[in-house]
Amino acid sequence: MKQRLLIWALTALLAGLVMFALLLVFKPVAPQAGSEEAFPIGGPYELTAHDGTVKTEQDFAGRVQAIYFGFTYCPDVCPNSLGKLIAAMDTMAPGDADQIQPVLITVDPARDTPAALNDYVSLFHPRLVGLTGTQAQIDDVLKLYRVFASRVESEDHGDYLMDHSSIFYLLNREGTPIGFISGSAPIAEIATRLKEVI
Ligand code: NI
Repeated sequence: MKQRLLIWALTALLAGLVMFALLLVFKPVAPQAGSEEAFPIGGPYELTAHDGTVKTEQDFAGRVQAIYFGFTYCPDVCPNSLGKLIAAMDTMAPGDADQIQPVLITVDPARDTPAALNDYVSLFHPRLVGLTGTQAQIDDVLKLYRVFASRVESEDHGDYLMDHSSIFYLLNREGTPIGFISGSAPIAEIATRLKEVI
């Protein structure tokens, strides 16, 4: 038990350090209007949506994507972060909120099938898209977005949890990565950043 706690604490610490390093290297500065400069993290993806269709970053061209990496069994961090994203969108004028495409990419494809994601995304927002894939597809996209995700055995939750970084990655209307927002940012800050990039 103590060993598990230690492992959990170490993975949490590692996640914190990764986030801190990201913040140091890539300060969340609003891109200049019309700037084509790409953010050096993230890129193209091809995954299966909660409705069973194949989606790439190009399928949401015309909207600014806010991509969150998480999993449906997450007891706290994911529901909290996704809830704040949707709450931030709700504070925006409807015309502005419509320009945001919220996306959840699972870090737990073994359990997050399209059907599981379908049940989950509808709890948050009618336009939230859940994406899953094979473990290899997910591993590729985690690497591309430099997402930390690690399996943690859990007695309380019966099976296992995924420790993971909590970040919203922003892709512009052309599907090009342009920045990120910390998943721990308050609702007002998330809304401000979203307004800056739409
Ligand atoms: Ni989570």
